[in-house]
Amino acid sequence: MAVLVTGGAGYIGSHTCLELLKSGYTVIVIDNLSNSQKESLERVKELTGKNITFYHAELMDKNVLDKIFTKHSIDSVIHFAGLKAVGESVKKPLMYYQNNLISSLTLFEVMQRHNVKKLVFSSSATVYGVPETIPIQESAPRSTTNPYGTTKLMIEQILEDLVISDPEWDISLLRYFNPVGADGSGRIGEDPNDVPNNLMPYITKVAAGQLEELSIFGKDYDTADGTGIRDYIHVVDLAKGHLKALEYSNSGIEAFNLGTGIGSSVIDLIHTFEAATGIRVKHKFVSRRAGDVAKSYADPTKAKEVLGWKAEKSLYDMCKDAWHWQSQNPNGYMVPEYDYR
Ligand code: NAD
Ligand code: WQD
Repeated sequence: MAVLVTGGAGYIGSHTCLELLKSGYTVIVIDNLSNSQKESLERVKELTGKNITFYHAELMDKNVLDKIFTKHSIDSVIHFAGLKAVGESVKKPLMYYQNNLISSLTLFEVMQRHNVKKLVFSSSATVYGVPETIPIQESAPRSTTNPYGTTKLMIEQILEDLVISDPEWDISLLRYFNPVGADGSGRIGEDPNDVPNNLMPYITKVAAGQLEELSIFGKDYDTADGTGIRDYIHVVDLAKGHLKALEYSNSGIEAFNLGTGIGSSVIDLIHTFEAATGIRVKHKFVSRRAGDVAKSYADPTKAKEVLGWKAEKSLYDMCKDAWHWQSQNPNGYMVPEYDYR
């Protein structure tokens, strides 16, 4: 079975490529490397001893996509490609709408032309906006609080319309909660281009001494310790969820929450990280970050019952593996310059 993975060089994409190859799939990747390095795929190949056909190309380029679908006999597509930084999307909405929507529309159109109608789409818990009830079920009302989130919601709606027009489409919308951690090998992981926006990579960089201290955004939320609660999920569990979605045959469209169902506070994460690594994470409290909600965690029952998928790894595993990746790769995928001495 051949799978086209868009955005496959990225954080979640590279982990999913690894699991796909381990399970015997043929993997073809298209990525413009706007937020990733080809090195991630080199390492996936090295870990598995298997090949990946890689196209360093722009998903919005219809001609390239057409050639890929003509050359390879593709059975299904996992669509990760997209820009994902919430704050940047507020500053540059047009860039987000352009990149995320046009690339998705181009992909779906070319898939339709080549009669490939099985799709797994990277959606996000961000489509739940400010949740009214916790834990969040897939049937919860959808709304968004930033342009990034709106692109995800719009793509979900585009796909819903597509299925109405042609019920042969088989689409899973995977709504991820907070992916963290790295493959246990320590060879692939999250490699933000800039100062991280997300909590776990910020913590690992503070632990590594690359950043001074963590700012905890708010200590007056309506939670046990006053800090925000999220559903952190190990990226390897998340990657495996994509294989379950590929195996699931569903004529139509279904949304699935991929989370653990466990809410952890910022303080919980810091304490668990310290226990897992023995390293103290210097931190201070600052005011709330605009747009943050107090609590968000999944009801993952549907994914368990329908897909047969359940997150297996603990917060401790997530911290241990995030640190393993960071400590083995202090500069991420950037290979240090050759030392001629
Ligand atoms: P990532 O930035 O590491 O990976 C996305 C990949 O897509 C990158 O390799 C990037 O170069 C590529 N890309 C972007 N635009 C492209 C284009 N026009 N053409 C070709 N390639 C393009 O991000 P990630 O964390 O691996 O996220 C993967 C997907 O999951 C994204 O769609 C993201 O919105 C979604 N998601 C991520 C999170 C998270 O916290 N990481 C949470 C929920 C949903
Ligand atoms: C987690 C908690 C912060 C950084 C984002 C996107 C979401 C999804 C996942 C893509 C919160 C606190 C954080 C820091 C802190 N991405 N925090 N200090 O905001 O839940 O979700 O990533 O779809 O759409 O919004 O994740 O890791 O940024 O924050 O105190 O330096 O950590 O306030 O409570 P978030 P996060």
